[in-house]
Amino acid sequence: AKFPATPKDFTTRIPPYAKLLSKLGKVKELTNNAPLTLAEKILYSHLCDPEESITSSKLEDIRGLQYLKLHPDRVAMQDASAQMALLQFMTTGLSETAVPASIHCDHLIVGKKGESEDLKSSIATNKEVFDFLQSCGKKYGIQFWGPGSGIIHQIVLENFSAPGLMMLGTDSHTPNAGGLGAIAIGVGGADAVDALTGTPWELKAPKILGVKLTGQLNGWSSPKDVITKLAGLLTVRGGTGYIVEYFGEGVKTLSCTGMATICNMGAEIGATTSTFPYQEAHKLYLQATGRGVIAEHADVALHEYGFLRADEGAHYDKVIEINLSELEPHVNGPFTPDLSTPISQYGEKSLNENWPQNISAGLIGSCTNSSYQDMTRAAELVSQAAKAGLKPKIPFFVTPGSEQIRATLERDGLIETFTKNGAVVLANACGPCIGQWAREDIPKSSNQTNSIFTSFNRNFRARNDGNRNTMNFLTSPEIVTAMIYSGSAQFNPVTDSIELENGKKFTFQPPKGQDLPSKGFEHGRDEFYPANDPKPEPGVQVKVSPSSDRLQLLEPFEPWNGKELQTNILMKVEGKCTTDHISAAGVWLKYKGHLENISYNTLIGAQNKETHEVNKAYDFDGTAYGIPELMMKWKLENRPWTVVAEHNYGEGSAREHAALSPRFLGGQIILVKSFARIHETNLKKQGMLPLTFADEADYDKLASGDVLQTVGLIDMIAKGGDNGGQLDIKVTKRSGESFIIKTKHTMSKDQIEFFKAGSAINYIGNLRKT
Ligand code: F3S
Repeated sequence: AKFPATPKDFTTRIPPYAKLLSKLGKVKELTNNAPLTLAEKILYSHLCDPEESITSSKLEDIRGLQYLKLHPDRVAMQDASAQMALLQFMTTGLSETAVPASIHCDHLIVGKKGESEDLKSSIATNKEVFDFLQSCGKKYGIQFWGPGSGIIHQIVLENFSAPGLMMLGTDSHTPNAGGLGAIAIGVGGADAVDALTGTPWELKAPKILGVKLTGQLNGWSSPKDVITKLAGLLTVRGGTGYIVEYFGEGVKTLSCTGMATICNMGAEIGATTSTFPYQEAHKLYLQATGRGVIAEHADVALHEYGFLRADEGAHYDKVIEINLSELEPHVNGPFTPDLSTPISQYGEKSLNENWPQNISAGLIGSCTNSSYQDMTRAAELVSQAAKAGLKPKIPFFVTPGSEQIRATLERDGLIETFTKNGAVVLANACGPCIGQWAREDIPKSSNQTNSIFTSFNRNFRARNDGNRNTMNFLTSPEIVTAMIYSGSAQFNPVTDSIELENGKKFTFQPPKGQDLPSKGFEHGRDEFYPANDPKPEPGVQVKVSPSSDRLQLLEPFEPWNGKELQTNILMKVEGKCTTDHISAAGVWLKYKGHLENISYNTLIGAQNKETHEVNKAYDFDGTAYGIPELMMKWKLENRPWTVVAEHNYGEGSAREHAALSPRFLGGQIILVKSFARIHETNLKKQGMLPLTFADEADYDKLASGDVLQTVGLIDMIAKGGDNGGQLDIKVTKRSGESFIIKTKHTMSKDQIEFFKAGSAINYIGNLRKT
C-alpha cells in the first residue's frame, strides 16, 4: 500500500513511516519475527543500524541490557535548558541542525498578577536570554516559540507529536507527547546535541511495563487519576528503566489529551517514557489541530503494516491492571508525587497526618492539565457554583497551556467564566509550576505550613512558591476547582455539600466537559507563532555580551595531550553526593547559560571526609577555601585535580552542569566507590575520566593533596578502552611514599574518542570537519 502524498508544510511533521517500517522489517528478521511491544517497535524502527544494536534474536537478551544507537526524529528545548544545549551545539561549528528542532520560552515567566503584566515584566527581566535563544533559532533554523506562546509540552502535542514519532526534549516531562503515540524522552543538553548533530544517541534498551486499562472513566474521575493512582502503586522509583505502555479496552475511552496527561506524569514514577497505541481519539485530535494528513498516513501504517500497536502476544516485563470504572479521584502529596490518597479518605488522613485543614490556594492548568477537556470540565463546575451564588473561598489561578488553548477558551466564553468568578488567568507559560509564582498572600519566608491544591505534576518542597512549608497536593483540575469553593480539607466534592448563605445546601453535580471544541481550535494572536520550518540564516550574529552574567560562550575543552594524567586530590567527599550536592539548583538556575558563574556552585553541598565540613577544601599550605574557589585556584595554577568520593556518586538527575562544571574548573578524574549511571556517562561526555576503586578499601588510603598518576592510560586509549576495564594509579603521598592502586573504568570505544577529543561535543565537531 502507498502512503498518501505529503503536503509541503508537513515534510518535517509526518514521521517517515516507510523508512521506519523498513528498519523494523530488519529487526523482525534479526529476532525471528518475535512479537514486539509498541514501544519496542517505535524504538527499534529508529535504530541507526539494526544489525549493530540487535545482537541477539532473543528480546530478553536486549531489554535492560543492550545499548541501542538511535536516530530521533526531532528535538524540543525549553528556555532554561536550551541555553546550555545551544551553547554546546555552537561549539560544533555546524551551520544547521540535523533534525527539526524547536525552542520554547516558558520556564522563565512569572505568575503573579495575570497574563499581560506578568509577560511584560518577565520579558524585561530575561530579555538577554530570550534574544540569545531567538538569534540561535534564526541562525540554525530552529523554530522559536517566544514568551507567551505556550508551554513546551502543550505546543509539542498540538504541533509536532505524532504516532510512531521518536523525539528528545530537554525537559523531564517530554513524555507528554506519548499521549499521541510517540516515544518522547527527556534528556540533558549534551544528549540533545547528539540528535541535533545527527550523531547516534545511545539508550539502554528499556524494559516494558504494560498497564492494562479496563472499564470507563465516569463521574468525577479523570485521566489524572490513572497516573496519580499508578504513582501510588509504583512509587517514584517503580518505573526506572522501563517504558510504560498502555493497552486494553479502557484506552479506547480516553481522549488524546487525557492520554497526554497520563504520559506526562509517568516522569514521576521514574519511567524512561510512556506511550499509547494509535486510536480513534488520536485521529480526532490530529484533525482538530489541523493535522488530518498525519492521521491519513498513520492509518496506512497501522492498517496495512500493523505498525503503531503492539504485536499479538507481545511480552511485557510487568503488567498492572487498572479498572477505570472503579477509579476514584486521587490526591497525591505532600512533597512527593507517590503519596496517593483517594479523595474519600483524604479528610481523615489530613487530620491524622496533621495536614492543614484550610486550603490556601487552587491552581489549574500547566503542561499536565490544560486541555480543552480539562478546562471545560473545570469551567462547568465554576458555572454550577456561580448559579448557586457561591463564591471562591481561596485564590484561584488558571494557566492555559498555549495560545491556541487560551484563544479557544476565550472564544467559547470559558476565560470569562473563570475571570468573572474570581480566577486569575496567568500567561501561557510554566509560572507557578516551576517556582515562578510571585505569591502575594503568603511570604516565602513564612514558617507556617500551608496547603495548596494543584493540577500540576510535581510537588517537591518549594517547587511552586519557593516556600518549603507549602504542601502541594496534586490532583485533577476538577477536584482543585471544586475545592476552592469550600477551602476545607474535609470537603469531598463527590459526596459532600456546601452550605449557602440562605441556609440551603449545594451539591456539585459530576463535571461535564468536551474532549475537543465543536467549533475547532482558535489560532489566537499571530505574534505568538513562529514560521513553519525556518531556514538557517548563517549570517545571523548570536547575541552574547562578553559582560553578561547570564550567558557565556563556551570554549571547547582541551583535547587529551597524549600523555598519562597527573593530578592532585582536591578533596575526599564523605557519604551521599547527588547531582544536587554537585550542582545546586535554586538561585543558581539564573546562571544556566553561564558556565563560569554557575560553576561556583560546584560541590557546595558536599561534605569533606577529612574535616566533616560542608563546602570546605584545603590548599597545600592549609588555607581553607570553598570547594569551587579552590578548584578555580588550581585551574589557574594549571594543577589538574581529582575528586574522590563514595557510593552512587551523582545520583538524582541527568543535570549536565554536574559534569560540565567540574570539567570547566580543571577536574580530570573522578574516583569513587560507585557511580550513578547517568552521571558517569555525563562525565565521559564532558571528557572526564570516571574511575571506580577495584578495592573499596583504597578509599581510606587516599588523602587530599596526594598525587595520582595513571599507569597504562596510553595503552588503554590505544586499545579503544578494550583493556579489561582496568587502570592502575600510582599514588604519591605528601611524605614521598608511593604505591599502586587498582581502579576500573567502563569507557566504550566511542567514549574513548570523547576523552581524546576533550569532550563528546568536540568529537562531534571534529567528525563534521573531516
Ligand atoms: Fe514543566 Fe510545569 Fe512547565 S512540569 S514544562 S514546569 S508547566
